[in-house]
Amino acid sequence: MSVLDAKVVFNKCLAKEIYFLLLKAKEVSLKAKPGQFVMLKLYPDRLAFLRRPFSICLSLPEKDIFAILYTIKGKVTQSMSSLNTGATISVVGPLGNPLKLPENISDLILIGGGIGIAPLISFLPMYHEKAHFIAGFRSSEDYIDVKEIFPGTYEYIVATEDGSKGYKGTSLDLFRQYTKSRVFNNAIVISCGPLAMLKKLSKICAQAKLTCYVFLETHMACGMGLCQGCVVKTKQGYKRVCKDGPIFSAEEICWEEIRD
Ligand SMILES: Cc1cc2nc3c(=O)[nH]c(=O)nc-3n(C[C@H](O)[C@H](O)[C@H](O)COP(=O)(O)OP(=O)(O)OC[C@H]3O[C@@H](n4cnc5c(N)ncnc54)[C@H](O)[C@@H]3O)c2cc1C
Ligand code: FES
Repeated sequence: MSVLDAKVVFNKCLAKEIYFLLLKAKEVSLKAKPGQFVMLKLYPDRLAFLRRPFSICLSLPEKDIFAILYTIKGKVTQSMSSLNTGATISVVGPLGNPLKLPENISDLILIGGGIGIAPLISFLPMYHEKAHFIAGFRSSEDYIDVKEIFPGTYEYIVATEDGSKGYKGTSLDLFRQYTKSRVFNNAIVISCGPLAMLKKLSKICAQAKLTCYVFLETHMACGMGLCQGCVVKTKQGYKRVCKDGPIFSAEEICWEEIRD
């Protein structure tokens, strides 16, 4: 884990209120593993007392850069959207427990709801040949072409709630449809999105006997296991999302304790 200043390489708007931020930070790009995140602080830091967590969606160590895909939520992300090339951001990371997948997996099914696609992209450089990427957006206005961020041999299929792009429905509707006509021998599902979606998905996967991992995005203060501000109840007791996660086996989460 490093604390450093990173330079903005570019900060591009890809869809309605969704931006792709490339940051130059050699140490982070060298150390980042799929599923990890960084805590960011903008300058001047009077804007917000606490750093904000963002998944490392892609890391290019040969260029000393890593990428973040973010949506505007509040004051920090609003301010991030106007950062220009050459600006400086304070970065702590990489943080979190990376997920190491077994070597013998046959298929990797990535299911993203909205901006939940961001951390899933980090698995593509290593697993794109085995990956099926299912993404759900509200409408074509929010649509992100993941193939533009990481081209590869994986299938990228999209659902929108209003049917303005791809399948009409949610990413879970599309997942059910997609898996109906296919047999997966040793597949792993990884998902990130709203809690209600993750809760439903964990039920579907349990019924279909599919191994499922979920990214949890709780509010975080320290991001490194010190404040207990991000705990989630699991079958083995309370765990810190920042230090023990952010990826958990869907089976270990006490879903009934989590408010949607
Ligand atoms: C491990 C992790 C990885 C993340 N990765 C990404 C990412 O790749 N891209 C991305 O766009 N966002 C990501 N987030 C969420 C991101 O941290 C928040 O959107 C950001 O902190 C909002 O800051 P803000 O100052 O703009 O909004 P604030 O002013 O802090 O909040 C605005 C609104 O958003 C809500 N909010 C803030 N943080 C969260 C959260 N973590 N979960 C649910 N609601 C929240 C607040 O309750 C409030 O209603 C991640 C969060 C975690 C914990
Ligand atoms: S944010 Fe402090 S322990 Fe997780």
